[in-house]
Amino acid sequence: MSLIDVRVTEVIDESPTVKSLRLVRADGRPLGVYQAGAHVDCVGPTAITRQYSLCSTPEDPDSYTIAVKRETDSRGGSDALHALRVGDVIQISEPRNLIGIDPDAGHHVLVAAGIGITPMLSIARYLDVHGHDFDLHYFARTETDAVFLGLLQEKVPHKLHAHISVPRTDQAPILRKALAALPARSHLYMCGPEEFMDKVAAVAQEALPTESIHRENFHANEQPSADENTEFDVEFEDETYHVPADRTIVSVLQDEAGAEVDTSCEEGICGTCIMTVLEGDPEHRDNVLTAAEKEAGETITVCVSRSRSPLLRLDYF
Ligand code: FES
Repeated sequence: MSLIDVRVTEVIDESPTVKSLRLVRADGRPLGVYQAGAHVDCVGPTAITRQYSLCSTPEDPDSYTIAVKRETDSRGGSDALHALRVGDVIQISEPRNLIGIDPDAGHHVLVAAGIGITPMLSIARYLDVHGHDFDLHYFARTETDAVFLGLLQEKVPHKLHAHISVPRTDQAPILRKALAALPARSHLYMCGPEEFMDKVAAVAQEALPTESIHRENFHANEQPSADENTEFDVEFEDETYHVPADRTIVSVLQDEAGAEVDTSCEEGICGTCIMTVLEGDPEHRDNVLTAAEKEAGETITVCVSRSRSPLLRLDYF
């Protein structure tokens, strides 16, 4: 993974648990524009890598903003980012987009809960500036927890539906009402806690085809233990390599084939290690690829996913 040094130029307390950090390149060059909904890998002072959605204006090439929630079970990553001061330097990857706006959609429904608002912020800014039809449903426990609510009320008041302090049992009925009688070619994008997204997905499936439902997911799936894995072979650049039950595809390709496959999270949540499947039946174990992409079987995240067929033929993505 190639990383860029970035300097913190602004730190804002967005809520008691969320700080936003404005970042510019340490060498003074522009960072470049990014696709709305993109995220970066962020390597903070403790060298822990985490994924953060970019929530600045996508078309501003000079700076990126990330919003960091202090996690109660933090291994130090979010605490260290909360301790950063203006002038400190950290590292980020190039932006990657796993929840891209569908260019053929006639209407967009954005659904966020809590800190899941961050990718929706850049998507909402993009859709608004470019005159696309959309609605944003924002669920938060309290007004204090609803980071960027003031900004959204100012920028997209006519598109924003803020659902603050709504009991969990009321979330599904609110969504069901919101998704009734959607315009043709509507697409839905969601981000939030797992349980919330499962609920949104279940309601969305009543109204939309699976391929129109998009999910931003920074949580790793629990992986089976190695003794539940099967062995298989991988063919890469006309050579065949054995992947034993206790090794990942990417470790075999890097160590034995000398393949230059970048990795970052190694948990199936960032998309850095995606490769092309030329032949074989991948067993997807990641939270990166969409249901449609998994069904198509043309790509695989080689840090966690495996194979149902005896052989997988792979190439760089
Ligand atoms: S390295 Fe992140 S998905 Fe594989």
